[in-house]
Amino acid sequence: MTPLMTWLDDRTGFRSVMHEALYERVPGGARWRYVWGSTLVFVFMLQVITGFMLWMFYSPNTRGAWESVYYIQHEVYLGDIVRGLHHYAAQAMVVLIGIHLIQVVIDGAYRAPREINFWLGIILLNIVLGLSLTGYLLPWDQKGYYATRVTTNIVSSAPVIGPAAQILAQGGPQYGHLTLTRFFAMHAGILPTLLVAFLALHIYCFRRQGLKVADENHAPETTFWPDQVLKDAVACLGVLAVLLLFAVFRGAELGAPADPVVKFDAARPEWYYLFLFRFLRFHAVESLGVTFGAIIVPGVIMGILAAMPLTAKFLGESGHRINKVFTWGMTAVIVALTALAIVEDQADVNHQSAIAEAAREAHRAHELASGPDGIPAGGAMEMMRNDPFAQGPRLFAKHCASCHRWNGHNGRGVIVLDRREDEKPGGGSYDPKRFKSYTAVPTAADLGNFGTRDWMRGVILDYSEHFAWLKNAQWYTDSDDDRLDPDVSEMAEWSGDNDALTAPENVADVDAVIEFLVAETGREDLALDTEKVARGRAIAVDGDWSLESCATCHGTIGQDFVAVDTDDTYGYPTLAKYGSASWLKDFIRNPDAERHYGAKNRMPAYSAEKLGDAELDLLVRWITHDYPESRVEDYPGMLDRLRQVLESEESGSPVVSDQ
Ligand code: HEC
Ligand code: HEC
Repeated sequence: MTPLMTWLDDRTGFRSVMHEALYERVPGGARWRYVWGSTLVFVFMLQVITGFMLWMFYSPNTRGAWESVYYIQHEVYLGDIVRGLHHYAAQAMVVLIGIHLIQVVIDGAYRAPREINFWLGIILLNIVLGLSLTGYLLPWDQKGYYATRVTTNIVSSAPVIGPAAQILAQGGPQYGHLTLTRFFAMHAGILPTLLVAFLALHIYCFRRQGLKVADENHAPETTFWPDQVLKDAVACLGVLAVLLLFAVFRGAELGAPADPVVKFDAARPEWYYLFLFRFLRFHAVESLGVTFGAIIVPGVIMGILAAMPLTAKFLGESGHRINKVFTWGMTAVIVALTALAIVEDQADVNHQSAIAEAAREAHRAHELASGPDGIPAGGAMEMMRNDPFAQGPRLFAKHCASCHRWNGHNGRGVIVLDRREDEKPGGGSYDPKRFKSYTAVPTAADLGNFGTRDWMRGVILDYSEHFAWLKNAQWYTDSDDDRLDPDVSEMAEWSGDNDALTAPENVADVDAVIEFLVAETGREDLALDTEKVARGRAIAVDGDWSLESCATCHGTIGQDFVAVDTDDTYGYPTLAKYGSASWLKDFIRNPDAERHYGAKNRMPAYSAEKLGDAELDLLVRWITHDYPESRVEDYPGMLDRLRQVLESEESGSPVVSDQ
């Protein structure tokens, strides 16, 4: 071995370099307080290594980014661990750089002759922040997409150069594919190169000036190797262990694929930017504008930081004290604002429901991508856009929830209440953060169980109660002759006055009719009892029992659905394939047709302009549960809560709304 080393040394002189590197003096002995710089270098190396690994699979384009990260996360061997390490190491770098900075200020290690190295450090800090900012976008999921959009908008608010800087960062006036490629170039090319360059200078200066020793007499002088190297190594391994724990047990999230048209309400920056985010939301700050809060204030703080060596030079010991107070003060403010942001978010029902929804959509996206059909050629965004389970609730909330509810909520887990209810019945007002009170009380049936046995049972046995929601509507109160009245109609009489329907000897028959009606919906998610269905058809269509059959009035029951009005449908809504996709689509498009509610109709007709064919299809497939099965948990039912709130309204007068 030795001859080889000597041969090498003759040609490279590596021995003296090694000696130089390892036998640096450490007056006052090796100490734990000196490890922070080394851990930073270590974590950066880890980022480079894991970053290259990720790069081997990552595809920076809007139809491949999310997909490739999904692939890394779920298909690549140990991919999730590597991604988790990269994710948490990025956060560790910000934390470690913060600690390093505090340490430097406390020790006064920024003073002459180390000013330049201090400034190099501040540049490094900004590069690291830039790296994490650009990295956040790369998975191209909803979270990163919308949070980064906020960032580029902030950039545009910078004085003078703002708009140009935004266009430069975004790769044009639009936020999209070129933004992603630019951010990737920044993240994997430009910023790391800058970081290596400045880090080299930083370490060079550090070595030139030697360690800033806190206390010469702490212990006998030693050298870097082996005492300090050992401490550094232990610290680095400690950091690695913590990162591995996070990577293995928590992992990095991957939200639903980014979709520019699906607004994302849960957008938050990475946690170490939360303080700034919270700061910007103070009314005083808001009123002074984004430029002030997001550019000027942070700029001034960076300026004060950079001026520390000068402060200490001109003000001497008291300048150093000012610097220390400033550093601790800033740390306290950052911690306090971060805590405030977290606590407030946790108490904010709207934000929590947005988070729950984001988690739901992410879960669904992973479920579909790993399902039998996988990710379609059009990409993950298209996959989500074509999924009734993901889109149905959104369409329902947008188009239908002003009158109908879905198990008491608006389809997306939000309980919708009347605006007037700013005043609680018992005094006081509702907390707008706990209730989203933008529309009215329900004025049409809750459709959460539409087409199920429960729904059919309600229609037959309890018609008046089943449709009682209609009585909340303005048109009902303004009573006109032709209104739909759950209490007064042939159907209401037939259902309400018919004790025979609940007589013990008829219970089985009514059950059979219900089974038959469910069969007519064609739903595949509800297992049917075929014998019962046949019996139900005999009763409902052929009138095979002692009571008046459905067909005496609803002449079309049991037939195939056709969207035309006939004598059979005159005055009696068509029950041909009642509740099936084709019936529903026709009803939603033409509720005022004679075959549905004719003149009594009060529901707006949804023309193709209001609700496109593709949207209608998604909505109806969601209502009829026609989508790849999901293990994503359903929103909890809120019917009981809704009823409670409605009943606690000022008694007497019915609840009236504008709808
Ligand atoms: C302005 C209030 C309003 C809106 C918005 C509304 N509906 Fe209706 N809906 C009604 C009323 C009132 C009825 C009762 C029947 C009628 O008036 O035609 C009804 C009835 C229904 C029924 C029939 C239930 C039955 O068996 O009798 C279905 C299904 C339905 N609506 C679905 C929807 C869907 C889906 C949307 C959204 C695309 C929607 N509705 C939007 C008011 C509304
Ligand atoms: C005596 C006549 C009569 C009988 C019998 C009858 N219905 Fe009806 N039904 C009506 C009328 C009329 C309406 C429309 C209600 C209105 O105009 O207020 C209606 C409405 C309905 C609706 C709501 C339709 C829609 O478009 O949303 C359903 C569902 C329904 N009936 C189911 C049944 C079933 C199932 C049976 C048999 C078990 C049955 N009805 C028996 C007269 C009848």
